[in-house]
Amino acid sequence: MKKIAFFDTKPYDKIWFDQIKADYDFELVYFEEKLTSNTASMVQGYDGAIAFVNDTIDKNAIETLAKNGVGILAMRCAGYNNIDFKAAFQKLHVVRVPAYSPYAVAEHAMAMLLCLNRKLHRAFNRTREYNFSLNGLTGFDLHGKTAGVIGTGKIGRVFIDICRGFGMNVLAFDPYPAKDSGIEYVEQEELFARADVISLHCPLTKETAHIINKKTLALMKDGVVLINTSRGALIDSDELLEAIKSGKVGGAALDVYEEESDLFYEDFSNTNIQDDVLARLISMHNVLITSHQAFLTNEALQNIAETTLKNLEEYFAGKLLQNEICYQCDKLGKCEKLPNGRCF
Ligand code: NAI
Repeated sequence: MKKIAFFDTKPYDKIWFDQIKADYDFELVYFEEKLTSNTASMVQGYDGAIAFVNDTIDKNAIETLAKNGVGILAMRCAGYNNIDFKAAFQKLHVVRVPAYSPYAVAEHAMAMLLCLNRKLHRAFNRTREYNFSLNGLTGFDLHGKTAGVIGTGKIGRVFIDICRGFGMNVLAFDPYPAKDSGIEYVEQEELFARADVISLHCPLTKETAHIINKKTLALMKDGVVLINTSRGALIDSDELLEAIKSGKVGGAALDVYEEESDLFYEDFSNTNIQDDVLARLISMHNVLITSHQAFLTNEALQNIAETTLKNLEEYFAGKLLQNEICYQCDKLGKCEKLPNGRCF
């Protein structure tokens, strides 16, 4: 029976993987540790590994996995910016879950927008203390406002549908526009200038790192609301903080944060966190932060468990790896797969 090391395990992961693992010929061993170059040696005697978004799968971690005979890394997520793909090539097959529920993430983005705009986070705290004052709780109608969506893949398109349901106008930017979608595509600069609400749904790449920065913030409308459920490093956090302090940005809903990997998913309520930018953002009345939870629905967790174990089964059965990704695939489909359907 193949032995699989499951890194960065949380109770909600176990619920769904335990429900279906009997259907597969694997022994899953759950580790609470994140997969990093320091913990990679835990895979001694294992055949595969499962990892998540905030694991650090760098050259050293990859070499340790490969040296210990692990040939497959199954990411139980869609994003893969935390992997050194060049180092993995020829050593470690990487598979992922390309889509598990675009609805989960898009609905969370809208939930954050509604909460922030209508100040539900503040109203909730007030009424718990029998403070029924409405001062400071004024929002704006979403109906008739313009949403600017950056990245119109699976999640961006669901978010666009939701915005349309609210009677919003939608503008989008994507270097690969969706054909026949009826979406109004504009250049990035025009989107920044016209949108009342901007939501990020593109992957983190060299081109998209810090697309929200001092320069692009200056192009935006005063009072613009930003939503980021994609990856933290799409936004320069220091420059966002300055723009919120100056009033340029009217609200920020962040499910992801540039320096989240040592913080998110853990309980620091008995410590003072060292990240002053995050602490300052959290202190602001017009900032709403959730800790990378946009994916967290029952449907998404079930799909993640099913696809991850199917990906591993395909690998061990010597089959085509439908969800394999390498640095060449990442260059938008330039991977020339081998006759057996694998990247190498
Ligand atoms: P997708 O691959 O279906 O869509 C991404 C879109 O971004 C594509 O249409 C692509 O052409 C576009 N894009 C690429 N470069 C771009 C650029 N420079 N500017 C604008 N658009 C660009 O991906 P999907 O499933 O919609 O996911 C989007 C992102 O959401 C993922 O990359 C991931 O980072 C994030 N995510 C966050 C989750 C959470 O729990 N917060 C969960 C799942 C995904």
